[in-house]
Amino acid sequence: MKMNAAIVSIIALAAIVAAAMGAYAAFSDHSSDAEPDRYAILGAYEEEIEYLKERMDLERTVTISSIDYHVGTLCGKHVVIAKCGEGKVNAAMFAQTAISVFNAKAIINTGVAGTLSEEVGIGNIVISTDVVQHDYDMSPLGYRPGEVPNVGEVYLEADPELREAAAKGIAKSSVGYKVFQGRICTGDQFVVGKEMMESITSRFGGLCCEMEGGSIAQVCYLSDVPFVIIRAISDDVDGDGPADFDRFMHEMAVLSARTVVEMLKELRFREKIT
Ligand code: ADE
Repeated sequence: MKMNAAIVSIIALAAIVAAAMGAYAAFSDHSSDAEPDRYAILGAYEEEIEYLKERMDLERTVTISSIDYHVGTLCGKHVVIAKCGEGKVNAAMFAQTAISVFNAKAIINTGVAGTLSEEVGIGNIVISTDVVQHDYDMSPLGYRPGEVPNVGEVYLEADPELREAAAKGIAKSSVGYKVFQGRICTGDQFVVGKEMMESITSRFGGLCCEMEGGSIAQVCYLSDVPFVIIRAISDDVDGDGPADFDRFMHEMAVLSARTVVEMLKELRFREKIT
């Protein structure tokens, strides 16, 4: 009798272990273990990634929290590409998923921006040296404007190797376009008019404004993943902002994406030499 009970217990235990192993296998199919390291590329709008999607060799598309992650290769590099939607929360969702699920070894953000500087005009390109969240303000509690307490910095630096590859890529692909390297200011606002512009530049300076880069930088900083933001200027904040945006957005989105393709050709980032 005792013997039978022991056999039943062993069989039950074996069944539990088998079920657990099955569950683990199902999970790990979706987890980072099965993934190579990838460049994670995001745009807020479809126009900002369609040029890349058309050129990639697509292996699969995975939808997580309403964002479609297109997984495959581009210029012979493992990539994951997505449109995240406008704003900091959407971009942070992409960045964290890219790191946790798709083993992002670097995050590249491509898209359009409004100009904050007289020097920088529509049709110019800005590569981030650093980024700041201009709408983040805990100064009543003693923090500096733009300082996120658990980050402890106001300005988060883009990776020098990614910046250099972007600059080389632009030099090859976008001859004739003016290129700047400098600060990019991010907030959950479409910036229009002198007053909004000066409220940003008086505190942070900056060459252009957009709605995603700062939150990508925050996620990357907290996970020690390098990033760079590349933006082509679609609108003059102090001029005809929304009308400019409607007119130039598509062309500038493609210009920025072309830069990313040339940049990828340059990149040998953390590639294993075999
Ligand atoms: N993206 C493009 N133009 C912008 C603007 N003026 N403000 C915020 N994000 C933008």
